[in-house]
Amino acid sequence: MKTLLITGASGFLGWNVCSHPQRGWRLIGTYCQNSTGIVPKTENLKLDLTDKDSIWRALKEVKPDAVFHLAAFSNISFCEKHPEETHALNVTATAHLAEMCADRHVRLVFTSSEQVFDGSKGLYREGDEPTPRNQYGKQKLEAEERIAEIYPEAAIARIAVLYGKSGEVSKSFLQQWLESWQTFLPVTAFHDEIRSFLSARSAVEGLFTLLEQDACGIFNLAGEAPLSRYEFALLAKEIFNLTTGSIIPKSQQEVEMAAYRPPNLTLDTRKISSAGFQPRHPAGELKDLANEIILPPGFSEN
Ligand SMILES: NC(=O)c1ccc[n+]([C@@H]2O[C@H](COP(=O)([O-])OP(=O)(O)OC[C@H]3O[C@@H](n4cnc5c(N)ncnc54)[C@H](OP(=O)(O)O)[C@@H]3O)[C@@H](O)[C@H]2O)c1
Repeated sequence: MKTLLITGASGFLGWNVCSHPQRGWRLIGTYCQNSTGIVPKTENLKLDLTDKDSIWRALKEVKPDAVFHLAAFSNISFCEKHPEETHALNVTATAHLAEMCADRHVRLVFTSSEQVFDGSKGLYREGDEPTPRNQYGKQKLEAEERIAEIYPEAAIARIAVLYGKSGEVSKSFLQQWLESWQTFLPVTAFHDEIRSFLSARSAVEGLFTLLEQDACGIFNLAGEAPLSRYEFALLAKEIFNLTTGSIIPKSQQEVEMAAYRPPNLTLDTRKISSAGFQPRHPAGELKDLANEIILPPGFSEN
C-alpha cells in the first residue's frame, strides 16, 4: 500500500483528510503543538517544519510516496501581525519540503489559497496575474513560486474558503456560527464579500484528484456558485433549520480589520473539473453536513 504523509493533520483540513480513509493509501499525519487535533487511531508523528533536519528525518522514517503539505499559519490577521514568524513556516519550510520531495521523487500536493488575488474582479483563472494584498496571500504566492522553481512536477491547489466538520482544535467559521446561533448570539456576515465556498469534504476529494491524476502546476479548488458570506449564512441557517440566533449583514468597510480582505475571490474551476473533480453547490454540501452534525435538541424545528 502506498503511503501519504499529511503535514498539518491536526488542523482543520488535515482532520478532514484523515477522517475519510482513501482506498489504496496508508495515511500518516503530522502535528506540531496539538496532538489532540489528530483523528484518533490515525498514524501520526510530531514534526516542526521550521526545523529543516526534522523534515529530513521524517521523510527518511516514513518514506512516503506522496505528501499533502497542509501545515501553515492560516490565520490571515496573525500573518499580518507576525510576518517573519509566519514566513518561516508558510514559505521557507515549504521550500525546504519541496526540495526534499524533489530529491526523493515524492509526489507533492501543496495547499495554496484564493488570497493570492486582490478580489477586485472575481472568477479568477489559474493564469490570471496574482495580486496579493495581505501578508498571508503574499506568502502563499511566494511559496507557489518557490515550489514551481524547485519542483515543477508538484501540484498546487489554490483553495477557496473552507467550511465543514472538524475536531476540537481547529474549527471552521461555520462551526463557530452554529455554536453562536445555538447560544442565541448573532453572527455578523459581510454582504459584499463574495466567495466560492468549498466544503472540506470536497477539498479532500479535490486533493486526491490532483494526486491520483499526477497533476502538476496550479489548480483552483472551489465550490460551485458564488455567494456572499451573508447569503451563505442565510443558507446555512435555513438548511440546519435553526430557529435561534440571528444574522447581521454588514459591509466590509463597517468593520476594522487587521489585514486587507479581498471583496470578490470567486474562482473559475474549469481546469480542475477537466481533471475529474466535480464542484458542488453549497446547498447540497450543507444538507449533507446537516445530516452529519447533530445539534442538541431545542434549537431547530425538527
Ligand atoms: N481553512 C481554509 O479556509 C483554507 C482556505 C484556503 C487554503 N487553506 C490552506 O489549507 C491548509 C490547511 O488549512 P487549515 O485551515 O487546515 O489550517 P489550520 O487549521 O490552521 O492548521 C494548521 C496546521 O499547521 C500545523 N503547524 C503549525 N505550525 C507548524 C510547524 N511549525 N510545523 C509543522 N506544522 C505546523 C498545525 O499543527 P498544530 O496545531 O499541531 O501545531 C496545524 O496542523 C493551509 O495551508 C491553509 O493555508 C485553508
